[in-house]
Amino acid sequence: MRYSLLSLFALAAVACCPQGEVNQAADQWTDAEIEAKINEILPQLTLEEKVALCHAQSKFSTPGVPRLGIPELWYSDGPHGVRAEINWDDWGYAGWTNDSCTAFPALTALAASFNLDLSADYGKAVAEEALYRKKDVMLGPGVEMYRTPLCGRNFEYMGEDPFLASKMCVPYIKAMQEQNVAVCVKHFALNNQEQWRTLVDVHVSDRALRELYLAPYEAAVKEGGAWSIMGSYNLYDGQHCCHNKKLNDILRGEWGFDGCVVTDWGGATNTIEAANNGLDIEMGTYTNGFTESAKFAYDDYYLAKPYIKALKEGTVKMETLDQKARNILRLMFRTNMAKNRKRGCMGTKEHFQTALNVAREGITLLKNDGAILPLDPNTTKTIAVIGENATRSTLGGGSSELKGLHEISPLDGIRAAFPKANVIWSMGYGSGPECYGRVAPSPYNADSLFTEAVKAAKQADIVLFFGGLVKAYQQDMEGGDRIQYGLPFGQDELINAILDVNKNVVAVMISGNAVAMPWIDRLPALIQGWYLGSEAGNALADVISGKVNPSGKLPFSFPVRLEDNAVHSFGEEVVYPGVEKDSYREEYKEGIFIGYRWHEAKGIKPLFPFGFGLSYTQFEIADAQLSQDNLSEGDVLAVTATVKNVGSREGKEVVQVYVGKKDSRVERAPKELKGFAKVSVPAGSQQQVKINIPIKSLAFFNEDANAWEVEKGEYTVFVGNASDNITAQLPLNVKD
Ligand code: BGC
Repeated sequence: MRYSLLSLFALAAVACCPQGEVNQAADQWTDAEIEAKINEILPQLTLEEKVALCHAQSKFSTPGVPRLGIPELWYSDGPHGVRAEINWDDWGYAGWTNDSCTAFPALTALAASFNLDLSADYGKAVAEEALYRKKDVMLGPGVEMYRTPLCGRNFEYMGEDPFLASKMCVPYIKAMQEQNVAVCVKHFALNNQEQWRTLVDVHVSDRALRELYLAPYEAAVKEGGAWSIMGSYNLYDGQHCCHNKKLNDILRGEWGFDGCVVTDWGGATNTIEAANNGLDIEMGTYTNGFTESAKFAYDDYYLAKPYIKALKEGTVKMETLDQKARNILRLMFRTNMAKNRKRGCMGTKEHFQTALNVAREGITLLKNDGAILPLDPNTTKTIAVIGENATRSTLGGGSSELKGLHEISPLDGIRAAFPKANVIWSMGYGSGPECYGRVAPSPYNADSLFTEAVKAAKQADIVLFFGGLVKAYQQDMEGGDRIQYGLPFGQDELINAILDVNKNVVAVMISGNAVAMPWIDRLPALIQGWYLGSEAGNALADVISGKVNPSGKLPFSFPVRLEDNAVHSFGEEVVYPGVEKDSYREEYKEGIFIGYRWHEAKGIKPLFPFGFGLSYTQFEIADAQLSQDNLSEGDVLAVTATVKNVGSREGKEVVQVYVGKKDSRVERAPKELKGFAKVSVPAGSQQQVKINIPIKSLAFFNEDANAWEVEKGEYTVFVGNASDNITAQLPLNVKD
C-alpha cells in the first residue's frame, strides 16, 4: 500500500463537511442584487485599483481592494482535484503538510462513464475540497476535442465527440458553482496539441470550429453557466486566443458570457488586444516576480502599468476597464463574496467514494474472449502481476498533478481483492524516474526485467499485465506531445513474449490516449484503465474480480495505425504539428472529420470504435422507436428503446443515439452522437429509456450565413450501444 503514516494520520484528521451548512446556500445574491452592488462599488474605485483587479499579484492569486474590504481571488488547478499549494512567486511547491487531497480520476475516465450524475458528484466534491483550501476559481474542466492521439493533454479532456464533452461538462460545472466555486473551462480554444503550444497558429473552417471545437464551450456557457473561461496559449487566425477578437465576439456577443476570461499562465502577449478583446484577468505572464527580478514583476504585466498608460493616453477606452472590473466583481460576488459561503471539506470518505465510483464506471472493457474475466475472487491460483504501471503513481502530469492523501496502486488492489491467490509481481519494463517532468533513463537493466517477467508469466496461471503510458514529458503530460503511437519501453516485445509462454493474459492499459496494439489478436482480454486517481487499484480490482460489472464506453476512437487518424492521414506538417518556418501555421484540413466521423466517412475500421465498451453480461437494445417521424425545427424528438439484460448479472448499459443525413447540401459525417442514456438493468430484466433530441441540435453551421441551420428533409436515427453497433435505423423527416 502506498499509504504513508503521515497520510493515514491526515486522513483521520480531515475536516468533515458540517451538516448544518447545507441549506444556507439557498440564500444567495440574486443577479439583480449583484449588479446593483457592482454599480455601487465601481464609482468608488480608482483607475489603479480597477487595473490591479485585472492581473496577478502572485502565481495563483489576484488582488482585491483592501481599502473597501474586497478580498483577493485565489485560483488552483484543476481539474482532477485541488493541486498542492504553490509558492507565492514561483512554480515550486510550498511544502505545506495539510494540502493533500482526494485525487479524482482524469476527465477521460469521467467521460468514459457516460454518467451525468457522476459528473455532478465529481464537480461538487472538487468544489468542497477547493472551499476547504480557500480557492475561489478552479482551473478546469478541460473540454478540448481529441484531435490527435499524440496530444499530451488528452487525458485532461473529454474525448473526441463534442456532444459527449458538452453533456459531460455541464453537471460538473453546475455542481461546482453551486458551492460558490467558479470553474475556469479550458483552454479556449483550439488547444489541441502541446507541441509549440504557445506558438501554433490554427486555421480551421468555421464549420469545424463551431460544430466541434467550440461546441463544448458553448454548452459550458449557455447550459452550465460557467463563470470563467481560460484563454489558450495558441493562436487562432493569427491572433492569440487569450485576446482573440473573433473568439471574444462569439463568447460574449453570441453566447452572452458574463463571466471572466482568464489567461492561461503566460498566455497574454499584447496590451491593446487584451484591453479590447475581452480579456479580464492576466495570470502567469512573467514568472518569479520580485524574488528574482524586479523588472518582470506583476506591475509589468500587459494588463498592469502598460494598460494604465494606454488608458491615460486614450489609446484604449476607459469602458474596457470598467467592463473588466464589472466582470471581476461579478465573479467575486459569485465566489469569494457570496453570501453564506460554505467552509468545505477535504479527503472525506464521501469524496474518496466519489473518486471510486467514477473510476469504476470509467473503466472500459475492450476485449474478453472466452469470458476470461472476471477472475474468481476466491481463486487460489498464481496470478502474475506484470508491468511497471502496476505500481507507478499516476498523479503527475503537469499542472493537473496532485498530492493525493493516498493512492491505491493496481498491485495493492489486486492483492486485496484476491486474498487466497498467490500474487507475484514482476516489473517487466522500467520507464525510469521522473526528472523535471521528463523520464530519466531507467536505472534498471531492461534485459533482466524482461527475463524475470517472462519467467513469472510462465509459472503463473494467469497474467495481469499493467502497461500503457506514464505521466511524463512526451507521453501523457502537458508541455509536449507523444513522439510515437506505439507503446514505449519495449512493452510490445514484452507482451508478445508473455503471450508466447502464457495464453491467459489480461492487459490493463493505463493511459489517457489510444496506443497501437500490434499484439491485439493474440491477447484474450483488454481493459482500458485510464488514470484513475486515489482509488485506482481498488476500482481496477473490483472490475477484474467481478465485484463491479464494467460499463465504461470509449470517449475516443482507437485507430489501428496513427495514419488512420484523420489528422495524420494527411502526413503533412501543416496539418500537424504546424510549419515552424511559416509562423507555426497549422491547417485543420480534416475539417469536421475527426475521430469516428473520419473513420466512418472513409470506411476505416478502427481498433476500437468510439462509444464501445463491453460488459460481463449481455444486453440487447430492442423496440427502438421515435415519438414522431415528421418534426419541425422547434420540436423535440423522443427516442425510446428497451434495454434487455439477457445475461446472468446486473449491469449498466449506455444507449447511444446518433443521427445522420445522407442527401445533404453540405458535407456531413455519416452519423453524429446526439443523445445517450445510461441505465442499470438487473439480470433477466429490461428497462425502457427515453432520450430527448431537440431538432435544433441537428443543425450544421452554415458558413455563408454565419449561422446555425437545420436542414430540412430526411434523416436517419441510429440507435445502438456503440458507434459500430447499431441495432436500429429509423427514418426521420424534418419539415418546414
Ligand atoms: C496550463 C493550465 C494551468 C496553468 C496553471 C498552464 O501551464 O496550461 O492548464 O491551469 O498552467 O497551472
